[in-house]
Amino acid sequence: MTRQMILGAYMVFPSMHSAGMWRHSYSENAFEDRVLYERYAQAAERAKFDLILIPERVHYVDGHTKYGLLTGFQHDPTQLAAVVASVTNRIGLGVTLSASFNSPYNLARTLGSLDILSGGRAAWNIVMTAPGPANDNFPEVDRLPREELYERGDEVLEATTALWSSWDGDAVLADRDSGIYADTSKIHAADYKGKYLSVQGPLTLPQSPQGRPVFIQAGESARGREFGGRWADLVFAIDPLEEDLRAKRQAIRGYAEEAGRDPDSVRLVAAVQPIVGETTSIAKERQEYLRSLIHPDAAIEWVSHSAGLDLSQFDPTTPINDVVDQGKGPSRRLARLIDAQDLTIAEAAQLFARNDLTPEIVGSPQEVADELTHLFESGATDGFILTATHFPRGLDDFASSVVPLLQDRGVFRREYTGTTLRSNIFDSTRTSTR
Ligand SMILES: Cc1cc2nc3c(=O)[nH]c(=O)nc-3n(C[C@H](O)[C@H](O)[C@H](O)COP(=O)(O)O)c2cc1C
Repeated sequence: MTRQMILGAYMVFPSMHSAGMWRHSYSENAFEDRVLYERYAQAAERAKFDLILIPERVHYVDGHTKYGLLTGFQHDPTQLAAVVASVTNRIGLGVTLSASFNSPYNLARTLGSLDILSGGRAAWNIVMTAPGPANDNFPEVDRLPREELYERGDEVLEATTALWSSWDGDAVLADRDSGIYADTSKIHAADYKGKYLSVQGPLTLPQSPQGRPVFIQAGESARGREFGGRWADLVFAIDPLEEDLRAKRQAIRGYAEEAGRDPDSVRLVAAVQPIVGETTSIAKERQEYLRSLIHPDAAIEWVSHSAGLDLSQFDPTTPINDVVDQGKGPSRRLARLIDAQDLTIAEAAQLFARNDLTPEIVGSPQEVADELTHLFESGATDGFILTATHFPRGLDDFASSVVPLLQDRGVFRREYTGTTLRSNIFDSTRTSTR
């Protein structure tokens, strides 16, 4: 059986990784309308996608709200996933929640409930929130230095996994005759004590059909990748350059092996923005239209936030290499790209705001399918998280024209084979070995 790719759809409004999404003439005003999120997820499910992925931000960024950028508006991701769960049956529900600011008990309970109520379709996108303004919204949580975030994160994962396995799979009897609902000898305390946190348990929830949520992780630092190698089922990467993606996939597989895991038990999924047209030139016109939707100040705002400094104070013709600190997370992606292209602040801002370095794949259905197949087959990635150009119908062109080509080539499924997210991702016919 040919190895098959994982496909997911990023889900957030008013913009995804393209800063002008909400201005697109096909976008409907979606923020408060649950039906539009439902339609988006249902379209992804009709196309047999593995999952939707909902990001999270827990602090306000004025310029992002002003221009309707990615981090300006955020629903509680678990609530949004629950809305979508009720109108879908198979698609996975990826929820981003900070491991830095949530207690292990609440994480285990809220994700555990979503997992059970959705029939085993929940995934947790585990993020460590870097020290910064979000700390002011959680004054009760110790402000840890960056180096210790993942140390504490390991403990959060040890504690939550202990809670999720506190009930054996056969603990619930629901025996009407004897009057015994649960065999409590099969329910165990988590009794977890670490350096940073402790939790007693057990959870008040039985085991979910997939045992625990699928773990997704996205981190840029070496320590973040090591954490991914130890815990993640899926690693989410945004990389503009194919060679970076390939190196990241190899690194994660290496870290998984070091942690005593089968390297095939962790899969890389890369962010991409497909811009599909009936012909190459129609696709390029669409790309130009998308570019025209980005307000120049919004672009500077976006890149400033990501690079961690206020670029509006510089002349926009200054080479961005002269001003960006190359050391930090997202700015490292930026730095890699600038190295390759030698850009001014204004040019980098446009590029960054267009897709936050999410590679655009522009062309006819054939060309888009070719590029995805190339990235997948050459071992740069195990799959993709697609970001839409408009909402909620932004996946329709891709679903109707590119998905059938991927299916004809045997690199993407025609039908879900399992009922849980884990069983679909790790279906033995979709082996990742190479
Ligand atoms: C592709 C990608 C997506 C991310 N999405 C989120 C998010 O939705 N919410 C969030 O708080 N952090 C998000 N992050 C931040 C990381 O998960 C991570 O916690 C942060 O980058 C600090 O870890 P690092 O030093 O290893 O990069 C994302 C990072 C990457 C690379």
